Amino acid sequence: MRINKRLGVLGAEITDVNLNDNNTSLYIEIHHLLMEHQVLFFRDQDISYSSHKRLAESIGLVKPHPAYNTVENFPEISILESTADSPSKIECWHSDMTYSNKPPLGTVLRSRIIPEVGGDTLWSSMTAAFNGLSSNMQEMLKGLSAVHDFSHGFQETLSQPEGRKRLKLAIKENPPVTHPVINIHPITKKFGIYVNELFTTKITNLPKSESDYLLNFLFNHIKTPEFTCRFNWSKNAVVIWDNRSTQHKPINDYFPASRRLERITIESP
Ligand code: SIN
Repeated sequence: MRINKRLGVLGAEITDVNLNDNNTSLYIEIHHLLMEHQVLFFRDQDISYSSHKRLAESIGLVKPHPAYNTVENFPEISILESTADSPSKIECWHSDMTYSNKPPLGTVLRSRIIPEVGGDTLWSSMTAAFNGLSSNMQEMLKGLSAVHDFSHGFQETLSQPEGRKRLKLAIKENPPVTHPVINIHPITKKFGIYVNELFTTKITNLPKSESDYLLNFLFNHIKTPEFTCRFNWSKNAVVIWDNRSTQHKPINDYFPASRRLERITIESP
């Protein structure tokens, strides 16, 4: 296995490895690298659905997503398909599913259909973003909590009658939750910013104007190019990221071409 660290504060491209291999020492190494680099990129991995699932399960229990269609016989593999007729509705930076009480540990995302031009994904390191704040700001934020809301994240889908019907149960099962504004990574013990533009609606115990001001500052701060890396997808690439210490954003710049990725989300222990 070769590790190419060329992307700045986070991200490493891993080569000379076959993710179809059911190999415990490989999985242990991948987990170790994930903790170190926060997001890992693998190319030319024509993995089966079972290998995709096994790889995700080597990191933790897999968690179905309530809002997406899934692969036949693999309810844990969500289909993220974006076409000119049905374009991706995810435009904002986010970590996955922070609207849940126990947001996921991470994600294993595999590419099936990739546009010839565009369709990259960006990741940002929440550890680097936290370290980029003054110590006074860091201390102030550590005392705060914020509300994360499923309905806020899927508001565009919910504005369509079919979408509201489809997501009715998911809304009922996912009432708004509260998380600390700054989290501590359970393994690396590093601090990270834990609010995101897609799901975070309000900092609790602050007037709305102060909450909006602080949240907007943080939403912009995490986009600082020095905290980010960018991946140009190719067919059969696999990306694994730590959802507790990163945020990501797809770049929807490829229409009328289509793009299809398949995603497994991993539960936190
Ligand atoms: C996601 O937000 O989980 C998918 C990222 C992408 O489509 O690039």
